[in-house]
Amino acid sequence: MSEGAKRVVSGIQPTGDLHLGNLLGAILRWVRMQDEVECLFFLADLHALTVDIDPAALRGQVREMAAALIASGIDPQKSVLFTHSAVPAHSELAWILQCTARVGWLNRMTQFKEKSGKSREGASVGLYTYPVLQAADILLYKATHVPVGDDQKQHIELARDIAIKFNTDFDVELFVPPEPFIGGGAAARVMSLRDGNVKMSKSDPSEMSRINLSDSDDMIAQKIRKAKTDPEPLPEDPELLAGRPEARNLLAIYAATTGASVEQVLARFAGQGFGAFKPALADTVVELIAPIRQRLQQLREDGEELDRILAAGAERARAMAAPTLAQARAALGLTRA
Ligand code: TRP
Repeated sequence: MSEGAKRVVSGIQPTGDLHLGNLLGAILRWVRMQDEVECLFFLADLHALTVDIDPAALRGQVREMAAALIASGIDPQKSVLFTHSAVPAHSELAWILQCTARVGWLNRMTQFKEKSGKSREGASVGLYTYPVLQAADILLYKATHVPVGDDQKQHIELARDIAIKFNTDFDVELFVPPEPFIGGGAAARVMSLRDGNVKMSKSDPSEMSRINLSDSDDMIAQKIRKAKTDPEPLPEDPELLAGRPEARNLLAIYAATTGASVEQVLARFAGQGFGAFKPALADTVVELIAPIRQRLQQLREDGEELDRILAAGAERARAMAAPTLAQARAALGLTRA
């Protein structure tokens, strides 16, 4: 990697079906980033182990997520695409970095508090130390930038603190403190179609709350038709969307899907009601998702090809990870420098 070059690493948990929120909020940004910087993307199956899993389903979920990423435009020739557990260096570096990270630092991680909830004593130790594995994921490749949402910023800060402490403790210039990545264009925060105040999520019990990449054109149109709205027409001024979370969400989806700004969308639809806006929105969403769904179906049919792509990605990732791990071992006196 040349001096000053950016390298990006990001992981996604293999939760099964991708939805419009993942697509507009993260994946399409990754797709655009591939042309700007060197990228590594992985299916975070080791992270999935921090909560209860179904072993019979896990490999299928990894393949499904890999297929969805490729169908959405992640190009395994441009980017290094691999499965977390196929690169054991992540786990080994995570152990080493657990000895650098401080208990006090992990105690401040808000995501652990949210995810463990009232059952903190019963949460897995892995859920607690997960941010250190995430730091290892990043530091292993000396990534300069990590494209993440707000909910992950604290973990990137932790990775920085760990990198700096390790370098200082062992008097090396090994790890690169990563920064949040802001390229790749704006990422949209897509909300539930049933409640404009909560994020579109796979864990929402209502299927009508989200649009999945595997939804048919009719299903997409139906979900948008039934999306919660208010009786007011659309305003000219985006400021007037304050207090109208559902209206704002549908406009944001239209804007993100077409690449226009909310101002531009309002310039076109101001004064009209949702009866006119929703069919137009359904058309743009179908236009975005239909080709992705078709590619996804083809990729699903060829599991062996997917496994080949992931195996090739893992081989590249292992080769990139090996020197960093060797340097860390040497810095610790585990092996000779
Ligand atoms: N924790 C991230 C999430 O839940 C996934 C992830 C794991 C990740 N390792 C990472 C993201 C490294 C960026 C970099 O979304």
